[in-house]
Amino acid sequence: MSNVLLATDSTDLHQRVHEASGGTCIAVPSHPLPADPSRLLALVQHETLPDILVLDASRAPQEALDLAARFDRELPGTGLVLIGDPEALALGAMRAGVRDVVDVAAGVDELRAALGRVAQGLAVRRAQPVDPVTALPIAQAPGRVLSVLSPKGGAGKTTLATNLAVGLAESAPGAVVLVDLDVQFGDVATALGLSPEYTLESVVHGASLHDPIALKTHLTLHPSGLSVICAPETPAAGDTVTPEHVSALLATLTTQFRFVVVDTAAGLGPRTLAALDHTTDPLLVTTFDVAGARGLAKEMATLRELGMLTNARQVVLNFADPRSGLSEQDVEATIRSRVDFAIPFSRAVTASLNVGEPLLTRSPRDPVAKQLKKLLGYYAGVGSRRGIGRHRAAA
Ligand SMILES: Nc1ncnc2c1ncn2[C@@H]1O[C@H](COP(=O)(O)OP(=O)(O)O)[C@@H](O)[C@H]1O
Ligand SMILES: [Mg+2]
Repeated sequence: MSNVLLATDSTDLHQRVHEASGGTCIAVPSHPLPADPSRLLALVQHETLPDILVLDASRAPQEALDLAARFDRELPGTGLVLIGDPEALALGAMRAGVRDVVDVAAGVDELRAALGRVAQGLAVRRAQPVDPVTALPIAQAPGRVLSVLSPKGGAGKTTLATNLAVGLAESAPGAVVLVDLDVQFGDVATALGLSPEYTLESVVHGASLHDPIALKTHLTLHPSGLSVICAPETPAAGDTVTPEHVSALLATLTTQFRFVVVDTAAGLGPRTLAALDHTTDPLLVTTFDVAGARGLAKEMATLRELGMLTNARQVVLNFADPRSGLSEQDVEATIRSRVDFAIPFSRAVTASLNVGEPLLTRSPRDPVAKQLKKLLGYYAGVGSRRGIGRHRAAA
């Protein structure tokens, strides 16, 4: 039988739903109704999340519809039922992803039938994961982990990570998550104009670390459809995030997202190494100068030794400038590997970072945006070639 959570102030309705659910119903007050799923769930000190949420909308219909819509977005595995006037609520309920609206005067049998329909719908949905883009059932494969790395700061990691994540999310809304692993000075939130309610440290210290459903209530949503886990507010909070946390988090995220994009701090610190262990697609970035190329050569040598340099690795040369006295071939000779993409300098990059809007959407015709689109095309192609699992091979 399904776990039912009921939000109501009516003891009479509570009794009827309790009976209809076969005694599995827990009730919380519906006045005032919390504005978001995590606050409602915090009212029940319960280990498991509800299969079905029944919201009494008879007193505050709009609040109930808003909360239902948030459950539908953030915890799509929950079946939703509204109690209220079916005629008045029908359209709003449909938009909010509510499966059933039941009259407040409904008897036990009618309530039991509604709960049964919702439970049946859930069973079908759970047995058949659905591709968020095509809406067709998919065979679940673990998501790809795309980690953006560079030996030094200021190379363009955050620029690449945010733009790639937003670009991927636009073609696959709901299927992409971006994690800011620059735990001390991460600026993904700034780059995307986000004010996160939860950040990395609260994600790794709570139930979310191993529980995908709890995790989804702790993600920050970007208008593009991208989910984001922003860096902690302070360097001290960042220090509490261990490599083991990183490993567990990425393991959980790959069961839920087709792409996990990871922005990292400069170099190969312990958290970045933990992320590399889950990485299918390392993206190495270097600045277009001798020091940058030498730094990348050392980083690549270390990765090669650790067996962490896969064939899927991409090398991006940022701030490429034909007048610098250095050529792409020079860089390739230094790093003993091919350069896959060269990105020129453009003032529009910093301007977009300053206003918190990705370059891809703010200045799509900018020369840097054009290169980013090529890179995106590459990853979109990789993402559609399902079944290319993680493989480690020397490059
Ligand atoms: N191709 C580029 N052209 C001009 N400015 C750039 C370019 N790439 C990055 N920048 C700027 O360089 C700075 C560092 O970039 P960022 O992505 O934050 O690097 P990292 O995350 O590696 O430290 C930012 O101010 C960014 O706007
Ligand atoms: Mg950065």
